[in-house]
Amino acid sequence: MASMSRLIRFVALLVVLGPLVSVISASPTYGNSPPPKYPYASPKCRRPLIRKDWRALSNGEKKAYIAAVQCIGNKKKAKSISGIPGLQTRYDDFQGIHSVQTPDIHWVGHFMLWHRYYIATYEKTLRDVCGYRGAQPYWNWTIDNKSNKDMSLWPIFNNHTGFGGNGPYVDGENPFAVPERSGGGCVPRGPFAWPKWSVNLGPGASLEYNPRCLTRDFSRPMMKWATQDLVDWVLDVNTYADFAYRLENVPVFTIPNVHGAGHFGVGGALGALGDVYASPGDPIFYLHHATMDRMLWIWQKKNLPARLYEVGGPIAPFDYSGPNITLSFKVGLGKLAPNITLAKLMNLQGDTLCYDYE
Ligand SMILES: *[C@@H]1O[C@H](CO)[C@@H](O)[C@H](O)[C@H]1NC(C)=O
Ligand SMILES: *[C@@H]1O[C@H](CO)[C@@H](O)[C@H](O)[C@H]1NC(C)=O
Ligand SMILES: *[C@@H]1O[C@H](CO)[C@@H](O)[C@H](O)[C@H]1NC(C)=O
Ligand SMILES: *[C@@H]1O[C@H](CO)[C@@H](O)[C@H](O)[C@H]1NC(C)=O
Ligand SMILES: *[C@@H]1O[C@H](CO)[C@@H](O)[C@H](O)[C@H]1NC(C)=O
Repeated sequence: MASMSRLIRFVALLVVLGPLVSVISASPTYGNSPPPKYPYASPKCRRPLIRKDWRALSNGEKKAYIAAVQCIGNKKKAKSISGIPGLQTRYDDFQGIHSVQTPDIHWVGHFMLWHRYYIATYEKTLRDVCGYRGAQPYWNWTIDNKSNKDMSLWPIFNNHTGFGGNGPYVDGENPFAVPERSGGGCVPRGPFAWPKWSVNLGPGASLEYNPRCLTRDFSRPMMKWATQDLVDWVLDVNTYADFAYRLENVPVFTIPNVHGAGHFGVGGALGALGDVYASPGDPIFYLHHATMDRMLWIWQKKNLPARLYEVGGPIAPFDYSGPNITLSFKVGLGKLAPNITLAKLMNLQGDTLCYDYE
């Protein structure tokens, strides 16, 4: 065992030096064991969880994931987090901590890395608390966008093997003028229809116990922002700070951004996913954000020796001329996980995280 990890470290070192000494063109020999997934993997991460696109899961895998989400949402009591009175379930723990931290984790440099930690902790909770054996799936919306105009036919919104679809149309306020909002009522069918599923916190920043149905309010024009062209534009930058900026972009409804596409394409004006604070009340939140985490990793992988160590962007929201985050900046999830430096969140297969994307 010890000699194996020495070998892996040695190989990792060679690959780090590769660009300098250019010796790593041939595959190294690993004896009988499989090669590490990629050369920067820590010996502590021998078998990363492989996160897949929702559509790539078998029906059995989809069922297992949904059952685990329902399990933390229905059966397991919350850890109490001080200051959050409304928590009932382990699922609420996550919605609650997102709500409390909302003013500090959006339009900042650590937006992506906070959410990376948040999703990994959610994935771990599904596994540790509810015996889920798979990985957190993601939702590659660009594929759906290309495949069919009618969102209700997308696999993720399937009534039987997905998260259910749109709510029926209801009148309501639309303060941001979300275009062509088409629902707003309770998701009528599927595993997250009332009363099988209850959103307990919110709306907005409210932390009181307020059980109600999950709502969706599809906006096709907002969802159309989720194009590969826009993904490519986000990826086409040289610095982490620019990546973080392009991902969230300017928060207006006239300038496309992939983050807003998922939130407002599904949540519209009256759906849970469109609620800045309470959006994790819709379980699709975690698949949407995993996709953006995958984007960050795709960007990092274009130059890992540099991008495992580079961060930037404001500490305070929109403070683009103020101080930038550094690798020693800490993020936390209240009682759900230890506070941690960003340095530990850079590597998907490091000493802290252990997963990869298909
Ligand atoms: C979505 O899928 C396409 C086609 O497989 C792929 O090229 C792209 O990288 C994926 N996008 C994201 C954000 O994962
Ligand atoms: C997304 O869907 C819309 C409407 O069908 C279409 O106009 C747009 O070109 C699509 N984007 C991509 C990248 O396919
Ligand atoms: C899902 O169920 C709803 C409510 O019964 C229905 O309106 C919708 O058409 C169904 N979706 C599909 C794709 O069949
Ligand atoms: C933070 O980073 C940006 C972009 O690299 C830079 O323009 C800005 O001056 C930095 N802020 C400080 C206070 O150094
Ligand atoms: C994590 O950091 C927060 C904010 O600085 C602090 O209030 C909290 O006590 C820390 N939690 C732990 C477990 O150290």
